[in-house]
Amino acid sequence: MPLAYLIGIDVGTSGTKTLLADADGRIAARATVDYPLHAPRPAWAEQDAEDWWNAAVEGIRRVLNEASVRPEDVAGIGVTGQMHSSVLLDAAGRVVRPPILWCDGRTTAECRQIEADVGGRARLIELTGNPALEGFTAPKLVWLRNHERASYDRIKTVMLPKDYIRYRLTGEIATDVSDAAGTLLYDVRRREWSSPVVESLGLDPAWLPRVAESAEVVGAVTQAAAELTGLNAGTPVVAGGADNTCGAIGAGVVRPGQALVSIGSSGVVFVPTEEPRLHPDGIVHTFVHSVPDTWYVMGVTLAAGLSLRWVRDELGHLEQGAARLLDADAYDLLSAQAAQAPAGSAGLYFLPYLTGERTPHADSSARGVWFGLSTSHKRAHLIRSVFEGITYSLRDALDAIRAMGVDVAEVRLVGGGARSTFWHQLTADVLGVAAARMQMDEGPGFGALLLAGVGSGVFNDIFEATERTVRLRDSVQPDAAAARDYAERFAFYRSLYPALKQSFAEVARWQV
Ligand code: XUL
Repeated sequence: MPLAYLIGIDVGTSGTKTLLADADGRIAARATVDYPLHAPRPAWAEQDAEDWWNAAVEGIRRVLNEASVRPEDVAGIGVTGQMHSSVLLDAAGRVVRPPILWCDGRTTAECRQIEADVGGRARLIELTGNPALEGFTAPKLVWLRNHERASYDRIKTVMLPKDYIRYRLTGEIATDVSDAAGTLLYDVRRREWSSPVVESLGLDPAWLPRVAESAEVVGAVTQAAAELTGLNAGTPVVAGGADNTCGAIGAGVVRPGQALVSIGSSGVVFVPTEEPRLHPDGIVHTFVHSVPDTWYVMGVTLAAGLSLRWVRDELGHLEQGAARLLDADAYDLLSAQAAQAPAGSAGLYFLPYLTGERTPHADSSARGVWFGLSTSHKRAHLIRSVFEGITYSLRDALDAIRAMGVDVAEVRLVGGGARSTFWHQLTADVLGVAAARMQMDEGPGFGALLLAGVGSGVFNDIFEATERTVRLRDSVQPDAAAARDYAERFAFYRSLYPALKQSFAEVARWQV
């Protein structure tokens, strides 16, 4: 078989990660290029699409150079990235305004407007699988109509971040089933745009691109993009998928019965299903997997790793200093600090709602809380309570999924959170299930490059791709006594949100 390399590009929230691997999934080179997140107002989150493109160009150049791979040996390219973030093009194919991101909270009024326009929340869930949530794409379009008419009037195409990278590489406008599902304009059951929703909202159906299955080749690298990146013109580029579906593929979570827990900026519990399963109250997302004929249910904690980053930046100066001296990672030192405190953090609780919450409390005005603080608490308790609070919020999401009759016996843990042995065991104990880790945890970019391998014929299908490349590293069982203890503490954690719900709404007034 001729040499075949694959490239995966992941347009993340903190940076774009580009991976180059061979057909056995061995990583030949990786490059991450960071960029800023702009918050022109509290609770707003925007990025510059040109930053994403420049990061992708630099990443591709770097991986090709580092691995000394000849461009003609690259069989295919796959793209993935943040879900929901709105990339809007005008008639000339230029970006209309900075994309509004998945973690932006400005559209609460538009969410209520959308539910009313479509005929109620239940009808919207029936049509799209989901209620209107601030981060989704459609509320952003309605917000622009309400608040930025000049931008709105220029829209000719709506796409997602990874689609924009593919568009710049190939000139082709398209999206894929998994990212279309996150727009709230897509009928997840039928895997097609929802005409009733698009019409009720008064949006132009011509804005919505062709939707491909994730492994389908939708274009080839243009001469202009080849000159910029060092790729060969004509290299096939597949549709790719959402970061959550590609993250799942990268961990081999491609079949019903498996489950993924990802602790990155957001925290995600992701469970594939063989048919679309709708939660009656819409507190769990129902989206489309990047695997043919497969769907998934997902709970999202908005500020998982984000909460820990906040602790590192605001309280972790000691760890940051020590990390510089020891050439270590500040997160590893925070995790070691947390392990010094007793389980349950001596009655201290942290609610990780720093940027509002999605599952199971879809509430953009929810805020972070330390509850039960006393003079006996030390830094270690504060830090441990944050690890525990994030993990309780994942348990909240898992329980919402279990309540739908979807069984989860074991999870695969990925993302930055999986690096900590302490957090690995904590996840098993708090969720009450076995938690496995992967030998290689390269994130969504790896799933994207496997999709490229399917599209370009290196693999027959995504099952062969994952069987050939994905391996488990280790797995821990919940400690029975710890799991019982955490179950009791979790019940108390659950009582805090309802008690504070009204106060969150009030405090939001002072945070503008
Ligand atoms: C999922 C979601 C996040 C983003 C992160 O609904 O909003 O997980 O995909 O990039």
